[in-house]
Amino acid sequence: MTNPLPHADVAVVGGGVIGLAVAWRARQRGLDVLLIDRGDLGAGASRAAAGMLAPVAEADAQERALLVHNLESARRWPAFAAELGDVTGVDVGYRACGSLLLARDRDEAEHVERERALRERMGLKVERLLGSEARRREPALAPSLRLALALPDDHAVEPIRVTAALIEACVRAGVHVRAGTDVSDLATLPAERVVIATGAWAGESRRMPVRPVKGQALRLRDPSGPGLCDRVLRWGPPTPGYLVPRGDGRYYLGATMEERGFDTAVTALGVYELLRDAGEVIPGLLELEIEEALAGLRPGTPDNAPIVGTDPADERIVWATGHFRNGILLCPLTAELVADELTGGRPDHALRPERFAAEGAPA
Ligand code: GLY
Repeated sequence: MTNPLPHADVAVVGGGVIGLAVAWRARQRGLDVLLIDRGDLGAGASRAAAGMLAPVAEADAQERALLVHNLESARRWPAFAAELGDVTGVDVGYRACGSLLLARDRDEAEHVERERALRERMGLKVERLLGSEARRREPALAPSLRLALALPDDHAVEPIRVTAALIEACVRAGVHVRAGTDVSDLATLPAERVVIATGAWAGESRRMPVRPVKGQALRLRDPSGPGLCDRVLRWGPPTPGYLVPRGDGRYYLGATMEERGFDTAVTALGVYELLRDAGEVIPGLLELEIEEALAGLRPGTPDNAPIVGTDPADERIVWATGHFRNGILLCPLTAELVADELTGGRPDHALRPERFAAEGAPA
């Protein structure tokens, strides 16, 4: 017989980095918190994520509100990482490494010039580099590279470590953690408020327009140690990709963008495209060992921004989902916004669920 769930002020449904960070912050504010996941903690998009903290690379002229929140959360990451380290002893792998957006040919060089101009108009820090200067900074880059854009404020953390730190922080803070617990009927949860942090699955209730966007990726390892590259490298379109160095000879090569429902199969084509493009950018990568081929599901929304706040039709429900390509980045900010919401606040921001109220079906 399974233990009954304890009564709590707040039940957080979903044990990825967003749910864990919300649970931790809510507990720090004095709330009794129950965290539930139907599988293992951090086993979904959090485990598959690259961990780029990349508000500048991900900036889009049509997504100004998202940019503001991405920048604010990036600003909070150093303190968030340090606090997690202090509380748990777990190093989350924060690396202030910066990023390079690379152009392999003339088309991509024009794309990089447009991206540079856009970011300069937005007041974001970028630096145009000739191929020779990019190679001086990262000697393993292909000699044929034409142009690069340095993004000195886009960094990275290691999501698996972030998850481990957040689990430890939750347990130490006294969050009641129940993994492997099915929670299909939210009405039966013994809590005053319910936070939905189920990522791509948050759309299952049809109340909010969240859909899965598949990303395939590879974890690579250099048995001879670090040194292939130091910065995050990015390239594309037409098939955008990135390489995230962990600083110890491990690398994360990602990621496809596929609208295939809840399919998480790793395909030959997906892996081929990642390796083909990465090999053109940094040929030495093809010598690395493959540790893992994986696929995860980003929680996408119609405007690519997350859904954070109390449900306009049901005060008991708080949404914390739809973080799409920026879940790790937005973790510190979302956790604070939801903790505010759970302690009587109603922070005024552009991520609130009201903007989709008409799209979801009634509960
Ligand atoms: N954060 C990058 C991606 O979702 O692929």
